[in-house]
Amino acid sequence: MDLDPGAMDLADRYGLMISVIAPRPIAWVSTLSPEGLTNLAPFSFFTGICAEPMTICFAPVRNRRGRKKDTLVNVEATRQFVVNIATEETARAMNQTSADYPYGVSEFAKAGLTPLPSVKVRPPAVRESPVHLECELLQIVTISEGPLGGNLVIGRVVHVRVDDRLWKDGRIRHQDLKPIGRMEGAWYARVADAFELPRPKV
Ligand SMILES: Cc1cc2nc3c(=O)[nH]c(=O)nc-3n(C[C@H](O)[C@H](O)[C@H](O)COP(=O)(O)O)c2cc1C
Repeated sequence: MDLDPGAMDLADRYGLMISVIAPRPIAWVSTLSPEGLTNLAPFSFFTGICAEPMTICFAPVRNRRGRKKDTLVNVEATRQFVVNIATEETARAMNQTSADYPYGVSEFAKAGLTPLPSVKVRPPAVRESPVHLECELLQIVTISEGPLGGNLVIGRVVHVRVDDRLWKDGRIRHQDLKPIGRMEGAWYARVADAFELPRPKV
């Protein structure tokens, strides 16, 4: 099977991407509006970029009508956000925060989650999440501006907070963190069958 992305319709192209780029980690992003209202939403087009300085990125696309998502509007305006890590325990609440609530409605309240003041940025973290990456905006790369148009939000991690129960010998074990991954459709993955493969030495 050969596929030309330019000849596929948008839904099929998106469907193909989320089925082959999988499982994806989930950035559960909390932000504040300029008026100080909290917002929370998951983004699985998310990855780390480098550790010097510690830098991560996620990609909020525009919605089907071409409107910017609330997270992007807030990050553009306030230049700060927190990436909370979604785990097995918080999966249902995380999913609830992906609902398309009107701007200004707090997903914290809708999903029964607790805002926890951050250490170095203004947006609160999610108390129920065991790891918080507090970020300052470095750059937004706009890929396209129409319906489902892409944006890459690049942030520098200025503070990391880890639940003491997960921090063992200076590291976090996946067996303790229990992160979840997003697959295609409404499918998620657990890290229940991980295996070790040391890098080859030459
Ligand atoms: C697990 C999961 C991952 C998601 N990943 C993305 C993503 O990478 N990019 C995106 O634009 N929307 C993604 N969404 C959809 C957004 O979470 C959803 O549009 C949300 O309403 C945006 O909220 P906001 O308008 O408050 O920013 C994802 C949803 C779920 C459940």
